[in-house]
Amino acid sequence: MSHLSAPPMSAVPSSGFRLTKEHFLVAVPVAVVAAAGGFLVSHYLSRKCCKKSQVNTCVCKDSPKVVHSFDMEDISTKAVYCRCWKSKKFPFCDGAHTKHNEETGDNVGPLIIKKKDA
Ligand code: FES
Repeated sequence: MSHLSAPPMSAVPSSGFRLTKEHFLVAVPVAVVAAAGGFLVSHYLSRKCCKKSQVNTCVCKDSPKVVHSFDMEDISTKAVYCRCWKSKKFPFCDGAHTKHNEETGDNVGPLIIKKKDA
């Protein structure tokens, strides 16, 4: 009876690639720079995107918040308020939403408040 001797088997299969201290000295700074660069690029793009998506492009831009208040008694039979922020008569609708919708494919329109019998 002959005994064949096999080469010793390792518990962990080896692919022939070993991470050395030098690999980590290069990989860690590259990963940190890539992560920081990705964060900065995404932060820049998200801020740029938000600036473009402002709905109010021209009404009272020097004010921190545009607010209008009306008493119900002061509304005669019907009031038409702009919701597209394009009206030259803001807060009232002047029909500018039609042009906005044609140019952008949007579907905005005014808020109409009227008395029941009007
Ligand atoms: S002009 Fe803005 S909703 Fe009509």
